[in-house]
Amino acid sequence: MALRFVTAELVLLLTACVGASCPPLEQVQKAEVVATYNVSKAQGRFYEVFVKDVVEAPCTCFLKDRRVTSKSLQDRDQLYCGFGEHRAWYHATEDNYFVTGQNARFDLVFQSPLIRKVHFPNIILGFAEDATGEYVWLVEYQCMQALGVQTYMGFNIYHRRWDPPEADVLAIQKVLEEAGLGEYWGHSIKPMGGPHCNYTASPSADEATETVLVV
Ligand SMILES: *[C@@H]1O[C@H](CO)[C@@H](O)[C@H](O)[C@H]1NC(C)=O
Ligand SMILES: *[C@@H]1O[C@H](CO)[C@@H](O)[C@H](O)[C@H]1NC(C)=O
Repeated sequence: MALRFVTAELVLLLTACVGASCPPLEQVQKAEVVATYNVSKAQGRFYEVFVKDVVEAPCTCFLKDRRVTSKSLQDRDQLYCGFGEHRAWYHATEDNYFVTGQNARFDLVFQSPLIRKVHFPNIILGFAEDATGEYVWLVEYQCMQALGVQTYMGFNIYHRRWDPPEADVLAIQKVLEEAGLGEYWGHSIKPMGGPHCNYTASPSADEATETVLVV
């Protein structure tokens, strides 16, 4: 009896420390999003405006140019990372591979310059269209677990503008709340970007001198 009690306590403690299992996909991703997401509308330049992502922890500015290939939504990333005088623009390529039979869901792989090719299940939680029918912002989310225990949770929130209007920020917050993930908003999800980023100064992929980002 005593042992069973201790075991239950330990499980609770582990769960509290490491995190619960990932919530079921149907709970966080609306059927409407799965039915209506159109990857063609997610192309072009986006700025990351909010983030929870250990991979990007040392980075404060992030823009990406997205295009649809035969196999993926491919991102050419430009990130401003580092500390003090050692800050610089870095480049990376990510492929959001299409998952057969599953819309609004990708198998995300960093192609370069990350050394280990980790696969993240990348899930679209919400989006909004502008007047031209292109997506103006998107909320993307990743959750991974091993043996029923969550090992990774990340959010990447992109907008066409680096300074998103307040109404859009509120709509983005609502997406997270409706997914049952509102607790991460304003807590572990941090704002990204801002005036210090000077996106016009980011070198193009061809000009980049710093191409190695090791995490
Ligand atoms: C997806 O978006 C593209 C570009 O806006 C459009 O041409 C295409 O018809 C859309 N597909 C569907 C199924 O709505
Ligand atoms: C941003 O970078 C560009 C190109 O290097 C430079 O011409 C411009 O003055 C910078 N703007 C600010 C506000 O620092």
